[in-house]
Amino acid sequence: PKLWLIVPAAGIGQRMQAECPKQYLRINNRFILDITLSRMLNSGLFAGCMVPLNSTDSWWPESDASNDDRIQTCGGGAERADSVLSALHALKEQVAADDWVLVHDAARPCVHPADLANLVSTLADHPVGGLLAAPVADTLKKAESRDLPEVVETVDRSQLWRALTPQMFRYSMLVSALERALKDKQPVTDESSAMEFSGNMPVLVEGRPDNIKITVPADLDLAGFILSRF
Ligand code: C5P
Repeated sequence: PKLWLIVPAAGIGQRMQAECPKQYLRINNRFILDITLSRMLNSGLFAGCMVPLNSTDSWWPESDASNDDRIQTCGGGAERADSVLSALHALKEQVAADDWVLVHDAARPCVHPADLANLVSTLADHPVGGLLAAPVADTLKKAESRDLPEVVETVDRSQLWRALTPQMFRYSMLVSALERALKDKQPVTDESSAMEFSGNMPVLVEGRPDNIKITVPADLDLAGFILSRF
C-alpha cells in the first residue's frame, strides 16, 4: 500500500490572538506550515499530499508550499474533522482502499524524522493503524470549571498518554469512521477518536514529547528552540 499525507491547515487559530492563523506565523522567517510540510515531505515516504485550506485564507499564495508540485489543496471545513474528511474525499481518485493516510497537524513543525519513520515501520502490518503519543509527565487534576477551580480529584496518570500526530490509518476505514462520527455528532478532536468510536482501536507508538502543537504565543519560541537542535 502507498502512503498519503494530509496536513489540515484550515483552522483560524483563535487561541493565538495573532493577526493571522497560527500556521502562517513565522519561525526563522518561514511559515510554520512550510516548515511542517518540508519536514514531512523530505522523508520521501509519500505518494502525494493534500492540504485543506480555509476559504478565507489569503496567505497560502505566499507560502513556499504553494510552489511545490508535490502538494495539492482543497477546501476545509468547520472543524478539524470536516477538513480532514474534505481532504480524504479530494484524494479519492488517487488512492486505494487499503492505502495508508497519515494526518499531521500543520501546527506541529517539530515532528522528528525518526519518529515518523518509526510510526510507519511499526504500523506497516497492523490492521487498524495508530498514532504517535507521549506518556503524560505532570500529575493531573480534575476540577470543576469556575473562576478559581477547586480540585475534585487527582487522576491516575499511569495509563494516560498525550495524542500527537501523525496519525496513520487505512484510507477507507478512516473515511467511514469520520463520516460516522460526524453524523453521530461525536466529539472528534483527532482521527484516532473517530476510529475508537467505530470500534477499531488504534495503537500508540511512543514519540518525542517535544512534538508540540503550537497553540499559544509562547509555543513559538519553544518551537524555534526545538527546531534549532535538529
Ligand atoms: O485548533 P487546533 O490546534 O486543534 O488545530 C489543529 C490543526 O487542525 C491545525 O493545523 C489547524 O489548522 C487544523 N484545522 C483545520 N480545520 C479546522 C480547524 C483546525 O484544518 N476547521
